[in-house]
Amino acid sequence: MNAENTRRAEQLLGSFPNRSSALIPILHLVEDEFGFIPEGEVESVAAMLDVTKAYVESVLSFYTLFHRQPTGKYLVQVCRGLSCHLRGGDDLARFLYEELGLRRNGTTEDGLFTVEEVECLALCKDAPVIQVNLEYRPNVSRADLAKFLRQAREGVTADA
Ligand code: FES
Repeated sequence: MNAENTRRAEQLLGSFPNRSSALIPILHLVEDEFGFIPEGEVESVAAMLDVTKAYVESVLSFYTLFHRQPTGKYLVQVCRGLSCHLRGGDDLARFLYEELGLRRNGTTEDGLFTVEEVECLALCKDAPVIQVNLEYRPNVSRADLAKFLRQAREGVTADA
């Protein structure tokens, strides 16, 4: 972590009764800084919290907000929960894979897009839902996605 995030991590450590309780907020600092959780940071965070590396790994494997590999500039998360499934979420994922030449869950070779299928994004009333870089995009259609991909490729701020 850089100096600023190390300082913030130390502050977090002091604000919890148990050091290990600061694990998730500290992992968010790492994810925000690097765009993923590098191997070396797993060891550093484990040492900082006085827990095992395996413990940190177990937390990382549980939460889809943390990534072990670099993600694309646009992280597109497609909800595969029931409401979204019933309202075309699977078709949206299929469309993205076709358009981007990806198999299930992956990053394009140009590093522009990462697609992930995730569990319920908790906005079921507006299904189908995706997130782009953790921002909700409700009631998404294939046409919305096509527009988003085009604008993203053109470097224009995209709406889906
Ligand atoms: S099922 Fe997609 S937001 Fe809940």
